[in-house]
Order: sequence, then structure tokens, then C-alpha cells
Amino acid sequence: MGESRWWERGVVYHVYPRSFKDSSGDGVGDLRGITEGLGYLSWLGVDAVWISPFYPSPMKDFGYDVSDHEDVHPTFGTLEDFDALVAEAHRLGLKVILDYVPNHTSDRHPWFEESRSSRQSPRRDWYLWRDPDPRTGGPPNNWLASFGGPAWTYDEGTGQYYYHAYLPEQPDLNWRNREVREAMLGVLRFWLDRGADGFRVDALRQLLKDDRFRDNPPNPSYRTEGSPYDALLPAYSTDRPEVHEAIRRMRGVLDGYGERLLIGELYLPIDRLVAYYGEGGTGVHLPTNMHLIPIPWNAREIASLIERYEAALPEGAWPNWVLGNHDRSRIASRVGAAQARVAAMLLLTLRGTPTIYYGDEVGMHDVPIPPTKIRDPWEKNVPGRGLGRDPERTPMQWSPETNAGFCPADAEPWLPIAEDHDRNNVSTERDDPASILTLHRRLLALRRATPALSTGSYAPVPATGDGLAYLREGDGRRYLVALNLGRDPHELAPDAGSPWRGRIVLSTHPDREGEILDGKAGLRPDEGLIIELHP
Ligand code: NOJ
Repeated sequence: MGESRWWERGVVYHVYPRSFKDSSGDGVGDLRGITEGLGYLSWLGVDAVWISPFYPSPMKDFGYDVSDHEDVHPTFGTLEDFDALVAEAHRLGLKVILDYVPNHTSDRHPWFEESRSSRQSPRRDWYLWRDPDPRTGGPPNNWLASFGGPAWTYDEGTGQYYYHAYLPEQPDLNWRNREVREAMLGVLRFWLDRGADGFRVDALRQLLKDDRFRDNPPNPSYRTEGSPYDALLPAYSTDRPEVHEAIRRMRGVLDGYGERLLIGELYLPIDRLVAYYGEGGTGVHLPTNMHLIPIPWNAREIASLIERYEAALPEGAWPNWVLGNHDRSRIASRVGAAQARVAAMLLLTLRGTPTIYYGDEVGMHDVPIPPTKIRDPWEKNVPGRGLGRDPERTPMQWSPETNAGFCPADAEPWLPIAEDHDRNNVSTERDDPASILTLHRRLLALRRATPALSTGSYAPVPATGDGLAYLREGDGRRYLVALNLGRDPHELAPDAGSPWRGRIVLSTHPDREGEILDGKAGLRPDEGLIIELHP
């Protein structure tokens, strides 16, 4: 194995700042809270923390509607709090990754206020303004907004429509405009100069749109009970070839600062996704591989996904894996508490940078949100279809106390807290050898100590039914990862030739550790094993 970059060895931990830790007692998490939690993250054994937006914002989309890219929202603290966070993270050896939102701003951003003030505004072209369709007098084309409704909103004052991929309060910037590009690249420099170690680029596939604004075609496999956005295939509004030039410019900025990480948020099929590594590796370092999120939790489907993904990676491209995030149902709710342990072993032993979503390590699940507590605009716009994202954004469970140690007992947390937080929380689980938190911590420690499991090679092992197995090899060591994705016992056997001989070094069920393997690997229901094979 040659020299690796820090993120190839490392593990990213994703923090949703409203929900991690509230230091001020207003029921909303903040930067000081995150700083307080860094000791925990260092103890857990991750390498980097990615923080969703904490910039000034009217909070229509909870921070993804930015009204000033170079400051901190007072709810979250101050720039000095940010500096203190970075200093403490770096002291602990943790990297800090920021969320960069280049596709759109808030409609309250001074740029947009100026842009909408008149057709002659010097900033008019900073956003996407179009005349009404002359045939209908309605929107210029059929594009849809991700959170429901048309993607165009009419501005009475100037008689034109503006485009927004998300909410009307999130107008899209015009990245074909040179001044926009320079202003937004300046935002990267601003945070790099303050110590940021990288960025996760929000909504990257949307950044450039068809220059002719052609209608999107209908989606033949659309099911009406899903998201209305899926009624059309976003052929002309997303994943346009021009986006790669914009990414190269972002990379150019980061590369001037040394080993800084660029992650692109990309929900795309594998063949399109891998294009974002860019020609000769000039794109994002990690185009987010979200494919484990919607996949049916079935060993054969997952084996085929890994195979297709590994095969599609261009020369020199480093893989990555994501199990969950602030936009999708949590892993424990998707697969159940027992399989969530197997999923953790999968995530932390596959080849590629893993991202852990905050709270998954203590077994947090989606929390049902009563109608009066709904906060997410998506659920408000398109109710009752399970699209709302509040359930996976509930406060981090630190302790069994009232409000789970997230905020003071007499504060009202911004979203409800899971009823079972008295069991699933950091302080109850940290000394329990059988907890999912301990499992995460031990997986992270083993991964850190074992190059074979991070930067080592990957080879699939043929398996059937609920069995999923692969070999990781590096630095003269060889590991077999054997997972049972089902509820029945399962036996994995080597293909042909030599039997597996080795020792179980880590298991989802700690009672098997140290066991010697000689031949086949018998797995109990929902069990995963990491076996160090004898040379
Ligand atoms: C993707 C983010 O993850 C999501 O939370 C947000 O609503 C949209 N982009 C719009 O910024």
C-alpha cells in the first residue's frame, strides 16, 4: 500500500448542529455544544466531524437557506465559537468539515434582495430569472421543486419567474455568472483561512442547469404515492456536464491549502456518480455513495451493489460509504436494532471512507413526530407520505436524564426526544461491553490499528442467501468479514481449496471473540464476525 491521504484512513462523523448538544439552554444545539462533544468523538475514535450549516439563515430549511455564508447564526453562536471549536478539534486530532451550500441562498440574502429589486439590478444575473412562457403565461418550463410544487416562483415586482430547486425561499444562484463563481469560491477561502479541513458540497448535482432550460421528460416508473418531484426525470435540471468545470474550480481553491477534503452530496446512479471524481481526479475526492440507504437490506442485493460500485471506480478513485444522514430514515429504523449492529460492521469494514450519522452509534432510531411538532417544510408541503425529515433529526441521546442530556431538563428541545432514550444513550452504553456504542468504538479502534481494514484491498467471497463475506488484506495481514443479514443461522464456507483458519478478533456478539475458526464460519442470526486469517 502506498501513501494514503487522511480521509482514506479516516472516518467521518456527521453532526446536525441543531440536534447535537445545546449549551445555551434554548432547546437548539449550538457550536459550543459541539465543542463540548468533541472529547466524546475523540474517545469514540472518529477522525473528522462534518457539521451541517450553522450560518445566518431564516431557517426555512433549517440552515440550508443561507443568508450570509461567512458568519454564524446567533442561535449557534459566534465566529469566535467557531474558532474555539476548530482549535479544540485540532488539539484532539480531529478534522473539521463544513457544509458548503453553493447552489442556492436564502431569499433574504442581500444578493437576492438586490437581484429581485429590479431587472436592471447589477445582481439580476446572479440568480435565474426568466420571462413567463409566452404560450401559457405560466412558468418558463415544467421543472419541479424537490420539496413540492413548481420550481419557478413569479415575482410580481419585476414580472419574471425565478428558479429554485428547493423551496421558493431558496433561490438558485447562477453559476454561469463569473461574479457569482468568484463570490462563492471566496466563501471556501474564508473558511479555509479559519482552519476548515474540507467541505461537503450541498446539492452538487443541481449546481448547473441546462442553458436552454428544456422541459424535463416524464418519469415512466413514477408512483403517485411517492415524492411529486419524481414525476419527472430531472435530465435538464441536474447532473449537467458543465458542473465539472465548477467543481474543478472548487478543487483548485482547496488544493492551494494542502490536504483538504472535498465531498460532494450526490444522489446519482453509480455510473453517473463516479464521473464526479473528475478527469484525472480533479473533481471531488468523495462523491457521496448513498446507495446503501434505499437498498433492500438483502445480502445478495448488497453484494451486487459493492461489486458494481468497486468495478465502476476510476483509476485512483477512493470509495466511500454512507448509511444514513439528516435527510433519510435512520439505519436502526430501516433494518431493526439487531441488524443495525451488522450494518455498523459492514460500514466500518468496507473499502472506503465511512460516514457515521450522529446517534446511529448509540442505536438511535426515527422518532415519531406528533402533528403539532412537525418542523420540516417538506412534510408540511407534502404531508403524510413519509417524506418529512424530522424523525431522523431528533436530539442526540447523551444520558438517561430528562431531555437526554441534550438540553437542560427545563428547556423545550426543538424536536421530541425518543422515549427509549433512557436505554439508548452515551452514558448508559459507554461501559456496557454488549452495547452498540461499544461495538462502534471497538470497530473504529480495530480499523485505526489495522491498515488492512481501511486502506487494504477488498475481495468478495462467494456466498449465498443471507451471507455476505469479503476479504480485506494489507500490510501482510488478511481479514475475513463474515456477515449474516438474516434472522436464521447461516454457514459460510470457503469456495474451494484451503479452509479458513484464523481467529475471531471482533464480533457483533462479544461472546465469540477469540474463538478459533477452522474451516467454515457459522453465523448466528444477525451476527457479524471479523476473522484474522492465519498467513
Ligand atoms: C441537501 C441537504 O442535505 C438537505 O437537508 C437540504 O434540504 C437540501 N440539500 C437543500 O439545501
